[in-house]
Amino acid sequence: MEQKPVEALAEAQARAELAELAAEIARHDRAYHERDAPEITDAEYDALRRRNAAIEARFPALVRADSPSRRVGAAPAGGFAKLRHGVPMLSLDNVFAPAEFTEFCERVRRFLGRKEEPLAFVGEPKIDGLSISLTYEAGRLVRGATRGDGLEGEDVTANVRTVRNIPQRLHGRAPAQIEIRGEVFMSKADFLALNAAQQAAGQKVFANPRNAAAGSLRQLDARITAARPLSMFAYAMGEASEIPTETHWAWLELLLAWGFDVNPLSKRLASEDAAAAFQAGIGAQRAALPYDIDGVVYKLDDLSIQRRLGFVGRAPRWAIAWKFPAEQATTVLEAIDIQVGRTGALTPVARLTAVNVGGVLVRNATLHNEDEIARKDLHIGDTVVLQRAGDVIPQIVAVVTEKRPANAKPYVFPDHCPVCGSLAIRPPGEVVKRCTGGLICSAQVEERLIHFVSRAAFDIEGLGEKTIREFHADGLIRGPADIFRLPDHEAEIAQREGWGEVSARSLSAAIRARRRIALARFIYALGIRRIGETNAKLLARHYGRFANWREQMLAAVAIGSEARSDLGNIVGIGAAIAEELAEFFAEGRNVDTVDELTGLLEIADAEQAAGGGELAGKVVVFTGTLETLTRPEAKAMAEKLGARVTDSVSKKTDLVVVGADAGSKARKAAELGVRTVTEAEWRQLVGEG
Ligand code: IVH
Repeated sequence: MEQKPVEALAEAQARAELAELAAEIARHDRAYHERDAPEITDAEYDALRRRNAAIEARFPALVRADSPSRRVGAAPAGGFAKLRHGVPMLSLDNVFAPAEFTEFCERVRRFLGRKEEPLAFVGEPKIDGLSISLTYEAGRLVRGATRGDGLEGEDVTANVRTVRNIPQRLHGRAPAQIEIRGEVFMSKADFLALNAAQQAAGQKVFANPRNAAAGSLRQLDARITAARPLSMFAYAMGEASEIPTETHWAWLELLLAWGFDVNPLSKRLASEDAAAAFQAGIGAQRAALPYDIDGVVYKLDDLSIQRRLGFVGRAPRWAIAWKFPAEQATTVLEAIDIQVGRTGALTPVARLTAVNVGGVLVRNATLHNEDEIARKDLHIGDTVVLQRAGDVIPQIVAVVTEKRPANAKPYVFPDHCPVCGSLAIRPPGEVVKRCTGGLICSAQVEERLIHFVSRAAFDIEGLGEKTIREFHADGLIRGPADIFRLPDHEAEIAQREGWGEVSARSLSAAIRARRRIALARFIYALGIRRIGETNAKLLARHYGRFANWREQMLAAVAIGSEARSDLGNIVGIGAAIAEELAEFFAEGRNVDTVDELTGLLEIADAEQAAGGGELAGKVVVFTGTLETLTRPEAKAMAEKLGARVTDSVSKKTDLVVVGADAGSKARKAAELGVRTVTEAEWRQLVGEG
């Protein structure tokens, strides 16, 4: 989307954008910190934060109470006990270029009133992991906490005890109480091995070593953490009963003596120039290092100077992270393959001459869609620049046109499905070209089958992607109904390579266990375009019983029918999604598949959300930050149950749902004696708890 320059924003626009940014950044913080599954790159995230800061700088009066600039990271996730940090765990400001580093040094000198004197630093590679706080009392490890939102983290004591190089006891003399901080990380090689094992087991794969480390440490079952190859480098002090050294360098030496690992590349640097040389040296070694680093942290060595400089906002004035540019490499584009997805989408994938980008061997890159190939003017045989920004899947950023071979041909996107040969079409206004083959396209069938057994659908244990592909290729499964006939072929499966009687028997049991299924899961499992989990739940709640849903969907095939308009009127569904459903049910083979399945399954009724419920006709207000729902989602839920959602609390309000950090509205509700409920109570009330 085109962004208006900050200088051109009117106040109302700025206010609206700050509200959007607060919500968006909070959402990404949760994805990153709580689910260890970021949806955007670090660079995109930084851009959001920078935009927020720029708008706030121009409109200081509009800074929100929940502004991202006032928070670090996300609130602690449920599951772990919370621990308050005695000294907040803060973040670092970044620079990207020598001139910016010089500026930082000048700021420091100005602050200290020293014009010419060189500044002495310690440089430490900035490990891309997650920060950890370890508290030792009388030399014994008593507590481990994640950073959380910087003020309050999660109690991961049991987990940190399993990290091999975290000492349980400090060697030698230790203060009565001291908190050590450092970075927990996973090596690149261990990360790749873990992902390979996860993939083979049909489990979640991690986007990068940092997420793998975070996901491994934040396990409720510490035995899982113990099985993961994590390490820590110590680098900072938190709360302490005495401050044992006068320089940061001496502190690092003390950490070593106590038994911690300190990054061996850390170095004392006597001047700004020495720091710049160090930056170049580490940059040159970066790709060969066994772990991911994204820059170097420079800390003023003298702790008394650190104390004088103190903090501004969420970062110290006495340290800076000098980040490296994203890792790049050049290689040759050998071919472009087209993958066909569950809904027929044709996705181009670049096949590359294998190349090492920042320590990870890369052979493929996503190209997203037809337009992107055209925009980059890719020819087969082109030399291309690849970039990996923390993530494993790299992107092609540019073509080196000077190196284009004379006979290189521009890539022509196919008009037909490369798997089934059906026509591929791209509706006007859309970027994705789709195979029109539907169920005759074996690629679509296979992807649908994989979706059908996935976690949020039938979730059949032991029937992962690999097995589905094999069984489909061998004709053992042609459609979803065949899955439920697999137990009849148990003896045959037991004979297959990699199987045996025991695993074949457990597969049969796992399949039988899923013969009864909730309506929402069943609808989701069908893999209808645009019917994700949320929409499937909306449909299930609306129609209640399978038979009713089926009947109404068939009736909705007719444009202008009452059933179609009823479907489109469901809050959260709308006309476009109604059309997808109608299209699905207009296809006889789809209806046959559904009917074949229902003969083999027991589909449980959903609790139907119709008029007369507790909330019908009630006036509801949401306030504060909701943890598990977005505002539009919460609103849709309320309206679905017949409630009306308003913005302000008055005597007419029946119910106030109070999220975190709620302010005046919650107070007003208390004053007026309006009923208030927590988010969890609300979920129970609407039957989602
Ligand atoms: S010092 C108040 N030293 O970078 C200063 N941080 O962007 C606190 N990090 O949250 C941080 N290596 O997770 C420091 N040698 C290092 C580091 C380091 C990695 C991480 C850390 C911190 C983040 C800030």
